Amino acid sequence: MNTVFDCNIVSLNVAKNRAGNLSSVENLNNIPFEIKRIYYIYDVPGGSDRGGHAHKDLEQFVIAVSGAFDVLLDDGINKTIFRLDRPNNALHIKKGIWRETRNFTSGSICMVIASNEYDLNDYIYDYETFIAFKKNK
Ligand code: TYD
Repeated sequence: MNTVFDCNIVSLNVAKNRAGNLSSVENLNNIPFEIKRIYYIYDVPGGSDRGGHAHKDLEQFVIAVSGAFDVLLDDGINKTIFRLDRPNNALHIKKGIWRETRNFTSGSICMVIASNEYDLNDYIYDYETFIAFKKNK
């Protein structure tokens, strides 16, 4: 599989001490956009998948703050699966990318840092519509 356009894992700094590790995200610093919303997905049954969709304009960073899961990214041409399993790794998902989250370990927490507020009009939930959207770009 080839790399999905411009999406990759960014390593966050880790401040280590005897009592554990600390990582941080900062507006317009290690997160290159203005953070408008942070949400997190939890209580996901072990082994389950969450449905696919794309965003027309939203950019996101996705972090497995606990546990692990896979994120499949698809730019309409290339597909890549990223395994997120460390809280200091953040997957940057640019706009116009189809994503599916899969194989959640039980008790895992998926934190999403987003460039915009929740907007249902920004979603593409149908894969064929996504491909048509990419062709019209
Ligand atoms: P969605 O973004 O589709 O996530 P996933 O593909 O992982 O299931 O969101 C799931 C549901 O949650 C959907 O019905 C929309 C709703 N939702 C909100 O109410 N607020 C939010 O900020 C987000 C991101 C989703």
